[in-house]
Amino acid sequence: MTTALKHADRSRLNVSPQLDPKTRSSLGQYMTPALVASFMAAMFDPLPDKIRLLDAGAGVGGLTAAFVQEATKRSPRPRAIDVTAFEIDPVLAKHLEITMLACAAECAAHEIDFQFSIVHDDFVLHSCEPLLREEPTYDCAILNPPYAKINSGSKARAALRRLGIETSNLYTAFVAVALGQLRKGGQLVAITPRSFCNGAYFTPFRRILLDSSAFREIHVYSSRRKAFADDAVLQENIIYRLVKGEPQPPEVTITSSANPDDEEVTRRQVPFAEVVHPGDPHNYIHLVLSDADGALAERVQALPCKLTDLGIKVSTGRVVDFRARDHLRREAQPGAVPLIYPMHFEEGFVVWPKPNGRKHNALAFSQSTIDLVVPSGTYVLTKRFTSKEEKRRLVAVIFDPATVPGSWVGFENHLNYFHEQGRGLPGDLARGLAMFLNSTAVDEYFRQFSGHTQVNATDLRGLHYPTRQQLCTIGEQVRMQMPDQVELDRIINSYFS
Ligand SMILES: C[S@@+](CC[C@H](N)C(=O)[O-])C[C@H]1O[C@@H](n2cnc3c(N)ncnc32)[C@H](O)[C@@H]1O
Repeated sequence: MTTALKHADRSRLNVSPQLDPKTRSSLGQYMTPALVASFMAAMFDPLPDKIRLLDAGAGVGGLTAAFVQEATKRSPRPRAIDVTAFEIDPVLAKHLEITMLACAAECAAHEIDFQFSIVHDDFVLHSCEPLLREEPTYDCAILNPPYAKINSGSKARAALRRLGIETSNLYTAFVAVALGQLRKGGQLVAITPRSFCNGAYFTPFRRILLDSSAFREIHVYSSRRKAFADDAVLQENIIYRLVKGEPQPPEVTITSSANPDDEEVTRRQVPFAEVVHPGDPHNYIHLVLSDADGALAERVQALPCKLTDLGIKVSTGRVVDFRARDHLRREAQPGAVPLIYPMHFEEGFVVWPKPNGRKHNALAFSQSTIDLVVPSGTYVLTKRFTSKEEKRRLVAVIFDPATVPGSWVGFENHLNYFHEQGRGLPGDLARGLAMFLNSTAVDEYFRQFSGHTQVNATDLRGLHYPTRQQLCTIGEQVRMQMPDQVELDRIINSYFS
C-alpha cells in the first residue's frame, strides 16, 4: 500500500471515533476502508493520459489516494492527474490536505504531474449552477457519497430540480451531479447503498443513470456488515462503474464476494436485458450473482401473469397509526373494527386479537375513519418491513374473515394488502397467492432486485405470477394451516417450467 493510502486509512481510523455523532450521521461520514478503496480504483478501465479526477465528499481522501496508487501501477502510466476534492467538514478537510500532499509526493516519485484543489463547500450547491452553462470536463469521478436526506424545501433540492434531478437523497444527488460533470466517455466509480436498484421512488434516478451512461461493471458484497466493518454500517452496498454517454453494453460484468477480505470473487457476464428488463417502466436493476440465480430468475419471469392480468391489486394499509391516534383502541369493543398490524401475523394467518401486544387491536368506526377501513373478506397481507435478522423478505399471511369478526377491517400502514376492487379475494385464490409469495423461490428472486428490508407495493406489482386458475388449485391445498416450507416449496416449484 502506498504511503498516501496508508496515511488516509490511518486518519480514517483515528478521526472517525472523534467525530460528533450527530454531525457524523447528518453528513454521512462513513469513510471507505483502504481495501475497498483500492478495489474501486482498480475498476477504472482504461485511464487516460491526462486525468481530471473528481472526488466528491472526499473525507480524509482515501479514494483519491487509492486512485493515485492505481495510476502509479498502470502501464502506461498517466502523465498528469488533476484532482478536485469537495469536503464540507473543515476538520476532515485538514486531513484531506495532508493526504493530497502525500499523493503529490507519490506521483512525483513516478513522474506523474499532480495538481489538486480542495473545495470546502457543499458539492451539490457548488456544482449545480455551473452545470447549467459549462461543458463537463472530468475524465474520472470516484465517490462514496454521504447517505442522508435532502429536505424538500432546501436550496440543494431546488438547485437539483433546476437540473432536472428529482431526488431527496444525498447519495443519488451526488452520483447524478457527478455524472453530469463527466465528459463523454468519462468514468464514474461509486460505492452506494443498493437501495436505488428498486422501488418507484428511485425511478427518476435510475432513468438518469441509464439514459446518460452505460453500466459496465457492478460488484456486490454479499455480507451486509463487512464493507464498513469498522463503522458497523448495516447497509447493503454495491460498487459500480458507469461510462458517460455510451449505450448500454450487450453484457454487464457482475462480480460478488462475501466481503472485502474475501479473495474469492465470483464473476458473471450477464446480458444487459437481464439486469434491466426491456419494457420495465420502472427500470429496476436486477443483480443476478450466480448461474443458479440466473436460472431462478428465468423460471420466475416465465410465469404467465402480472397482477393486473389476475384482476388483483395491491395497496398499502391505510391506517397510519400516529395520524389516527385518537381513534385507536387497545382492545376490541363495540363501535370499533379490528385493526391489523404485522404483530398479528402468525404462521401464514392473521391471529387477532393480541391482547398483550405492543400495538392496538381496534379502530373506532366513525365518519372520520370510514375511509381508513375496507369491507371484511379474504385478503392476503404482506409485511412492508422485515427486520435485518429475519430470514425472509416476503412474509405473506391470509386474513380470513371466519376467524376475525366484523363487517369492516382496518389494515395498518406497515403492511400491504392484496384485493379485488377494494374487496376481499375468493378464498382459494387468496390462499394460493399467499403460498406463492411465501415460497423460497419467490423470496430469493425478490432479493435479486431488492437490497433492503422494505417490500414496496410497486415491487409486488412487478412480480410475475401463475394464472388465477393455478393459484386457486394451489390454494385448495391449504385450509387452516400453511404447509411446512418443504411441502410449500414442492407445490410451488411444480408451477415453474
Ligand atoms: C460517506 S463519506 C465518504 C468519504 C470519502 N469519500 C471516503 O470514501 O472515505 C461522505 C463525505 O462527504 C462529506 N459531505 C457530506 N455532505 C457534503 C456536501 N454536501 N458537500 C461536500 N461534502 C459533503 C462528509 O463530510 C463525508 O466526509
